[in-house]
Amino acid sequence: MSSYIIEGGKKLVGETFVSGSKNASLPIMAASVLNKGVTKLYNVPNIHDTQMMIEILKSLGCKVKKNQNKVVIDSKNITKFEIPENLMHQMRSSVIFAGAILGRYKKATFSYPGGCDIGARPIDLHLKAFEKLGITVHQNFGKIICNTEEIIPTEINLDFPSVGATENIMLASVLTKGTTTIINAAMEPEIVDLQNFLNRMGAKIEGAGSNVIKITGVINLKDVSYNIMPDRIEAGTLLCSAAITGGEITLKKVNVNHIAPLLEKLTEAGCKIQIKTDEVKLKAQKRLKAVNIKTMPYPGFPTDMQAIMAACLCIASGTSVIVENIFENRYKYTGELSKMGAKINIEGKTAIIKGTRKLYGSKVKATDLRGGASLVLAGLVAKGTTKVENIEYILRGYENLEEKLNNLGAEIYMIKE
Ligand code: UD1
Repeated sequence: MSSYIIEGGKKLVGETFVSGSKNASLPIMAASVLNKGVTKLYNVPNIHDTQMMIEILKSLGCKVKKNQNKVVIDSKNITKFEIPENLMHQMRSSVIFAGAILGRYKKATFSYPGGCDIGARPIDLHLKAFEKLGITVHQNFGKIICNTEEIIPTEINLDFPSVGATENIMLASVLTKGTTTIINAAMEPEIVDLQNFLNRMGAKIEGAGSNVIKITGVINLKDVSYNIMPDRIEAGTLLCSAAITGGEITLKKVNVNHIAPLLEKLTEAGCKIQIKTDEVKLKAQKRLKAVNIKTMPYPGFPTDMQAIMAACLCIASGTSVIVENIFENRYKYTGELSKMGAKINIEGKTAIIKGTRKLYGSKVKATDLRGGASLVLAGLVAKGTTKVENIEYILRGYENLEEKLNNLGAEIYMIKE
């Protein structure tokens, strides 16, 4: 197990950049399976989750080469249609392979995916959509066995705009004979990136970014090179790191539109924000002000920024109220923040945060990816030394977090025990 040791109280000042998006890379890596050829991906973050996707690709028979942020996937000779259970349990996104394998081979076997424990996270919407596409879904001792003679294009009305289910339907529908329409589709930027990637590969998809997506099947796909979009949650995390320490940073390689709801909240909290094409400058005030947040599907405030923003609000003047509307168990990290002196009360899906002037260095444990990042932020501003244990969660989703923060003047290092 690894931990971060953080000496708190250093203002973050300087310039840094955003890496490629984790949540865009994962479905795009799975999508490479659809083409009987070679996919070259650039700007893929070098993190545990993308490594796990590579392991799954290899287990299916793909040849994969990785060099820093470039990943080359050769999917010509896929030999297996079953995703190994141990890899399924490593991460939620493994489920996206189901749509891609089904799309190409009309059969796939997998099990229930793992991932951060932030709620029940069922996959009923994915499986219902597969059935609507004419796929037989059979469950046997924890295994989900899917097959069909032919995927039948149809109209699918999602009960909830699930990101993963939207992606799975898109992937399963690319090589069909006809048009599938997703109504109440997720509108997240990562869905747009997936559409752009698939269209570059020869697919015919329109509407991503809105709540209706149309996928018209094509017969063939072609080899493609693609540059993954910047990570909007990493962008938010770095901006919040500056905000919580009273710092001033310039963040490069950002898609500013993707982080609009966060920028609005940071402005409301008193930060001065300046925007250029793909660059954001943030200058924090002496003390942040309390703000209220409700997480919503995109374009609302992202649930993935909830814990990170909460860390900032722990030291703000006044009382903030957060309502978590997406996942029902996403406040585990608050118990750890309380050990550092934060005043947080949880009532159902609401967190009430009474701002305090100081947090204190302490020994805390990451409970999930974003909750772990929120503890790092708290450590950056806390008086004294903070030890964040279980940082494997954080390493799943952030590329070189420690190095980026240290370059901005933080004092954080990793220890392995
Ligand atoms: C994706 C993101 C994750 C983000 C989330 C919401 C990736 C790899 N992960 O996760 O970082 O927090 O979107 O923006 O892109 N649900 C069901 N049944 C289903 C599917 C989902 O009830 O079949 C529920 C979930 O339990 C959750 C809500 O729908 O309460 C949203 O889930 P979903 O949008 O599917 O999130 P993920 O794709 O898992």
